[in-house]
Amino acid sequence: MYTIEYHGRNYQCRADETILDAMLRQGVDFPFSCRKGSCHACVHVAEKGRLSADAQKGLDDHKKGEGCFLPCLCRPVDDMVIVPRRKTGASHTAPAAPASDHRFRSPDPEMWQALGEGSVLSAVLTDFYTRVYNDQRLAPFFHGVTRQRAIEKQFLFMRQKFTGEKVYFGDRPRNAHHWMVISNELFDYRESIMVDCLRRHGLPEHLVERWRDLENSFRSDIVKDEPWKRRIGDIELPVAGFDEITLDVGALCDSCGQEIDAGVTARYHLRLGTLYCPDCMDAAVA
Ligand code: HEM
Ligand code: FES
Repeated sequence: MYTIEYHGRNYQCRADETILDAMLRQGVDFPFSCRKGSCHACVHVAEKGRLSADAQKGLDDHKKGEGCFLPCLCRPVDDMVIVPRRKTGASHTAPAAPASDHRFRSPDPEMWQALGEGSVLSAVLTDFYTRVYNDQRLAPFFHGVTRQRAIEKQFLFMRQKFTGEKVYFGDRPRNAHHWMVISNELFDYRESIMVDCLRRHGLPEHLVERWRDLENSFRSDIVKDEPWKRRIGDIELPVAGFDEITLDVGALCDSCGQEIDAGVTARYHLRLGTLYCPDCMDAAVA
């Protein structure tokens, strides 16, 4: 067990858990999004303590030199003092200029026909999500979402755009991605995979450009530095934080795996739904 000092309090971190998991287990409102090293939303600076080998994976040399590390990857090898990184430089959120002059307008019969009225679209999306689910940077965002669900949702979203039929009943992109910290660079990276799939399935170049224009019209709804609250009408729902619940039936603690009996009050994380037993919750030391 290691001690992690954060904002003047000491938290316990087991050798087999990440610092992010230890913070969440102890009810700390700690920034994160992907939990797997892709988004860098969790970056902190280690003021004291050695870092594990992979704690700085994917950070540039400048950040490494500052002592930055990723708490979602870092399992402790030392007692540590950690602090948030001061934000400097350009923000993620500056939307890039639209990629092309090929403006997309819905409906788009030419596009729908080129996509085989659905058959080519289906093949493109199967190809695309197969690559996404095998991609180290993109796959973490899809934790808990089946590939089939991702394909079907995207198919209906695109079909509605191209045909004008009301077939898509999912979230609008702003809400669907509200918790995902996605940089312009990551957005472009995903787009390059999509463009490659479209070309491989024979979509003519002017339609590839039009597809890109459609996706880019959602860039400012998706690219961000930190999670947004989910909004339904005027109501904003919390994206982070914890609540407590008295269990009607027994459940297992997501941290230590011990059974939590019915009638016990446990803590859960609002977005992740992870449940913590009283022993795990109480590990923070004032
Ligand atoms: C790096 C960029 C992106 C990432 C990492 C990403 C990731 C995701 C993930 C993980 C989901 C599943 C959410 C869930 O079911 O809970 C999702 C859903 C969705 N995404 Fe993206 N996405 C990206 C860009 C885009 C773009 C450019 C579009 C097109 C405008 C788009 C359209 C959608 C739609 C329509 C859904 C379904 C929403 C629903 O389930 O109701 N995404 N995305
Ligand atoms: S939460 Fe750590 S990099 Fe995404």
